[in-house]
Formats: sequence, C-alpha cells, structure tokens
Amino acid sequence: MKILVLNGPNINMLGIREPDIYGRETYQSLIEKVRDYCKAKNIDVEFYQSNHEGSLVDKIQESYGKADGIVINPAAYTHTSVALLDALKAVSIPTVEVHISEVDKREDFRRVSYVRSACIATISGHGTDGYLEAIDILLKRGDNK
Ligand code: DQA
Repeated sequence: MKILVLNGPNINMLGIREPDIYGRETYQSLIEKVRDYCKAKNIDVEFYQSNHEGSLVDKIQESYGKADGIVINPAAYTHTSVALLDALKAVSIPTVEVHISEVDKREDFRRVSYVRSACIATISGHGTDGYLEAIDILLKRGDNK
C-alpha cells in the first residue's frame, strides 16, 4: 500500500508556530513518527508539504494511479480551497482529512472545510497522532477491498 501524506501552508513551522495550539513537535519529528509507523505496517509512504495551493493541486494530480490513499492536512486552504476539493475529487483516491488542532472549537471560519466532502473521514484535535489514526483508517479500508 502506498500513502501520500500531504501538508499545506505553515505546517513546516510546527514546533515554532503557536505552540499552545499546535504543540512543540516539529515538522521533521512528525515525518519521522509517521515514517516509523508506516514502516512497522509495511506501508510505502511519501511526504509533501507546500505553502502554495497550486503545488498541492499538482501533487494530488501526480498521485493519480500511484497512491492508494492520501492523508491531507490542507491547513489554511481547508477553509478556502475549491481547487484542492476539485483535485481530490478528480483523482478519487481515498483521502482522510487531518487537523492537529480542534478546528470546530476555534474561530467560526475554521468550521468550514471545502475538502471534507471529498474525504472518507476527518480527524481533528488529536495532535499529530491524528496522522497515525488517518493511516489506520486507510489501511483498514484497503484491507476490506
Ligand atoms: C490546521 C487548522 C487550520 O485552521 C490552520 O489554518 C492550520 C492548521 C490544523 O492542523 O489544526 O494551519 O489545519
């Protein structure tokens, strides 16, 4: 099984940005944690982070025919991007939306997710463990097929 872990703007600033909200774990340590988890489960994982909407769209398109699942934290683009929604719908790869913070308990604008309707599940507010839960959801789904 091949999974793409996609992160949007400012996720590269984890550990530095608003630690009270996002914690002190860095982006690098998030990658290492997810990589170790995938290794133990025999999953082939690829990571991609960008601060640019079009680059994220490109990466989703490139995953067509290659990835069996996507874990996406679109970050701020969650709340604005029809382009990411359309890209996920276009490739039709099972996708789980992840947010480190509990978006529904923050500002009103964070309650809106454009990508959600293209995702099989959403995990919010479980910190970086949410990425591991997302992988489990994709794995379970893959096993059933
Ligand atoms: C986030 C929540 C978003 O509202 C925010 O713009 C982010 C990170 C999260 O992981 O909690 O950048 O997606």
